Amino acid sequence: MIPKSFIQDLLNRLDIVDVIERYVPLKKAGANYVACCPFHNEKSPSFTVSQSKQFYHCFGCGAHGTAIGFVMEHGGLGFVDAVEELARGIGVTVPRETPAPGQAQHKVAPDLYEVMQTATRYYHDQLKQSPRAIEYLKRRGLSGEIAARFGIGYAPEGWQNLETVFPNYQDAALLETGLVIENDEGKRYDRFRDRIMFPIVNVRGQVIGFGGRVLDKGEPKYLNSPETPLFEKGRELYGLYQAQKAIRAEKMALVVEGYMDVVALAQLGVEYAVATLGTATTPYHVQKLLRLTDKVVFCFDGDAAGQRAAWRALENALPHLQDGKQLRFLFLPTEHDPDSYIREHGKEAFEYLLGGEALPLSGYLLRELSAQVDLRTQEGRSALLERAKPLLTAISAPSTALLLRKEVAALAGITQAELEGLYAIKPVGAPAHRVPQKSPRRGFPGLRALLRCLLARPELARELPVEVGEEGSDATTVAALAEYLREQNFAASTAAIIQQFQGTPHEAALASAEADIMQWGADFDVVAEFHGILAKLREEQRKQQLQDLHIKAGGSVQGLNEQERERYRQLQQRS
Ligand code: UTP
Ligand code: MN
Repeated sequence: MIPKSFIQDLLNRLDIVDVIERYVPLKKAGANYVACCPFHNEKSPSFTVSQSKQFYHCFGCGAHGTAIGFVMEHGGLGFVDAVEELARGIGVTVPRETPAPGQAQHKVAPDLYEVMQTATRYYHDQLKQSPRAIEYLKRRGLSGEIAARFGIGYAPEGWQNLETVFPNYQDAALLETGLVIENDEGKRYDRFRDRIMFPIVNVRGQVIGFGGRVLDKGEPKYLNSPETPLFEKGRELYGLYQAQKAIRAEKMALVVEGYMDVVALAQLGVEYAVATLGTATTPYHVQKLLRLTDKVVFCFDGDAAGQRAAWRALENALPHLQDGKQLRFLFLPTEHDPDSYIREHGKEAFEYLLGGEALPLSGYLLRELSAQVDLRTQEGRSALLERAKPLLTAISAPSTALLLRKEVAALAGITQAELEGLYAIKPVGAPAHRVPQKSPRRGFPGLRALLRCLLARPELARELPVEVGEEGSDATTVAALAEYLREQNFAASTAAIIQQFQGTPHEAALASAEADIMQWGADFDVVAEFHGILAKLREEQRKQQLQDLHIKAGGSVQGLNEQERERYRQLQQRS
């Protein structure tokens, strides 16, 4: 473990501008630096770096983070590697923390990532001791090397095996990570038993979930970790951590359906494949991949389920299409999945298909639309227009939208203008209407504003009342941030906070606060804004309490006890 304090020191000693300049030339613009974003394709710079606050934020694609995050994302490195590289750059060595046996650990809330790491190690060790599991993997053609690369393991038979590595089997973290299940009587048992274990790793190299496959016949074939604080299926892609480098190098990503597909492809040299995790391809998946590369190919199984999965991927991709980026769809012969295909025909044949047979999104869309209807009849053409409407209106990329509208209109025997009139959509090709520049929302009351003040000036958290009140995600983020800052004696920097909450449920709220901070002018008075919000917050709380007492009193102060009457008077006087 790298001590948290070291991460903070490192972030304090680095200058994010130097770090990023090594990869991307930056230009000074007002208080910040800007560049064309290295994580997506753009012509005018929306990638912005704050030197004073030590973080970056792209207003185009939403990429954001600290110097550590930048090196991870740009270099495709894991957290530890990124920290080491940055430390080397300024000539310091990274200290390691080994908790003394039986010490600490119980005091701090157990780190869920560490729990997952321990389980991964356990399953990995168990694989070595199970000739049956090894035999299964061999039969599936996996080399030891590739099994090691993907951290594949084995969960042995038995109900409470994890007790051997988690002496406190009742620890809440075991439930929270989904490693154990608790039945109605409160009895616990291991979720994964007698299964080949595929660790699901996030882009930072941390294990966040597992997929477990039965060795023989049995239901379900794959058992996956449930959604947990670490693991959100719609946001993660299996194999992305291992594939990142190859995706950048090959300038393409391949999306497949299964764990085994990713592993088999990688073993045979197609290292740029990732898999969805038993869910449809989500818009988030598409965005994530398009940030890494300009070309994404979906290659699903040849069966009916694969066809449905492809269509869902298309639907979810439409709103995120960007001109200049390509999405393609490859359909394998019905009896095959990528695993079986590449094992039978080899890498060259597979890549040949990929290069020659993958349909561009537009071709696939038009093929499917016209296959469902009889274009020789008026009813058929009308049905085509009906079916195409939600699809075409979802596309905002101008050239793609234009070309597809033209083609659909032609298929239906009408003009583009008629189609646009029919759908009541703005014509494309006409002069673009200007997106108004977002003006910095100063003075905006409430928790979101409080959050950005705290992120910009963490020491202000000292003045925060213990109860911020209100429910909702901003409130929980403010509370989590306040708790972290108290632990740090209010001495954490903005960058340390961003780093600390990277990959947690609070990341999104903080990212939007980062974007706001980036737009503050040099003369923006954070302290005044903070005090203004606090005053409003106190006033709201006062009104609330007064109202509560009113209701309690039922119209007359006589209904209150002495203490409450005093409180009532105080609250009234403050108005
Ligand atoms: P497949 O049934 O196509 O399996 O499911 P596969 O990937 O070809 O696996 P092998 O070759 O039989 O071992 C594709 C994906 O769907 C999810 C898994 O993510 C799997 O990799 N799945 C499938 C489940 O989550 N649960 C299941 O019971 C089956
Ligand atoms: Mn398969």
